[in-house]
Parts: sequence; structure tokens; C-alpha cells
Amino acid sequence: MKWRCVVCGYIHKGEEPPEVCPVCGVDSTNFELIEDDSISISKKFVEDISREVLTSEETIKKAIRSISYGLFIITASHKGKDNGQTANTCFQITSEPTQVAIGINKNNLTHNLIAQSGKFGVSILDQNGHDLARRFGYRSGRDIDKFEGLKAHRGQSGVMLPDDVLATLEAEVVAQLDAGTHTLFLGRITAGEYFGNSEPMTYAYFRSKK
Ligand SMILES: Cc1cc2nc3c(=O)[nH]c(=O)nc-3n(C[C@H](O)[C@H](O)[C@H](O)COP(=O)(O)O)c2cc1C
Repeated sequence: MKWRCVVCGYIHKGEEPPEVCPVCGVDSTNFELIEDDSISISKKFVEDISREVLTSEETIKKAIRSISYGLFIITASHKGKDNGQTANTCFQITSEPTQVAIGINKNNLTHNLIAQSGKFGVSILDQNGHDLARRFGYRSGRDIDKFEGLKAHRGQSGVMLPDDVLATLEAEVVAQLDAGTHTLFLGRITAGEYFGNSEPMTYAYFRSKK
């Protein structure tokens, strides 16, 4: 804090004004507070914070984009129709029992097939999986057969699983949460395969090389 002697203009720094002005000798009642450092620091802090609040939408977007993901092909089959889609939203929720969750857009054919059959497959892409991610991610199975000409096999639960991936999982839906545009399906794992031929693909790696 800064105090000014109103008689001679002497400036004193401290929590309190001096008992006696060292220049003109008047007592502490002749000092006025001219600047409070602690207040000015907190004002600056408040300014910084409000700047952050003003740009918060942008900040939130940046923060969201910094979440890291893997990349997966989610497959499902119902009444003779096999389909799948690319997804980055798949994550393990519990280990006892082993359960994973996936976030699937309600407009996707894969969504309907999972909802109708109560099952889904997860194929975990390796770093060579760009073509698979494109094949399953950019068009709907309503318009094309995404398995046509693709090396793939049928899993124990009946879902199709692409061959050239790092690992696969099969799950039965045990719960689902309506998340607006998407449904969050919680699946208990019933089967798995591990081929372990490369590193897992991350969403960031896919975007950097697509
Ligand atoms: C890299 C990448 C990640 C994607 N992640 C998701 C996702 O997590 N959830 C989702 O519903 N759609 C996701 N999609 C979009 C679907 O894969 C896409 O809409 C697909 O064409 C739906 O196909 P379907 O109608 O045959 O089910 C992603 C697409 C790409 C390319």
C-alpha cells in the first residue's frame, strides 16, 4: 500500500501510514491512502478472469479438442443386415465385469442395428487402419454394403468384424442413455480377440495422416 503525506507530499510504502512524517513531521492522520497494491493485483486478476469468461466458448472448444481418443469400427447385425461405422467414442467403464461404453448418433444405421439386436462389436484399429476408418466413417450402410470385398469374419455373437485390426471385442448392451443426438450404449464384453500387430490408432494420428 502507498500513503501520501497531504502536507509535504512524502510517499510512504507499508500496511499503515507512518506515525510521524519523516520529512515534515506531521502525524499519521495527515496521510491518505493513494494506492492499494493488493487491490490492484486482484483487479488485474479479475480482469484476466473475465477475459477468460468472455472467450470461454472458444476456450471450451480448445479444451474439448484436447481430449485424446482411440479409433474404432463399431459393428452390428440384425435380421441378415451387417453394418458398421467408425467411432472415436469408445472407452472402458469397468473391469469387473468388463464393460465399455460407445456414443452413437441416432441417425446412423449402426445405431438402429445395435438398438434392435442389443449387441455390438468393437474393432480397435491399428495405425494402418486409415482405409477402414474412411470406409466405415464417411458413408452410411443405408447406401452401400461396407463389408463388400472386405476381409472380415463373424464373431461369436454374430456381428461382423474386420480382419486387419489390432483387436476386437463383442458386447451385449446392458444399459443405454439418451444423450440428445447420440445414445450412449453400455456393453458387457462377451468375447475378444487380440492380434497385436501394430500400435493402436489414435484419433489425433488419424487426423494427422488422413
Ligand atoms: C474419425 C471419425 C470418427 C467418428 N466418430 C463417431 C462417433 O464417435 N460416433 C458416431 O456416432 N459417429 C462417428 N463418426 C461418424 C460415423 O462413422 C458416420 O456417420 C457413419 O457414416 C455412420 O454410418 P452408418 O449410417 O452406416 O451407421 C465418426 C466418423 C469419423 C470419420
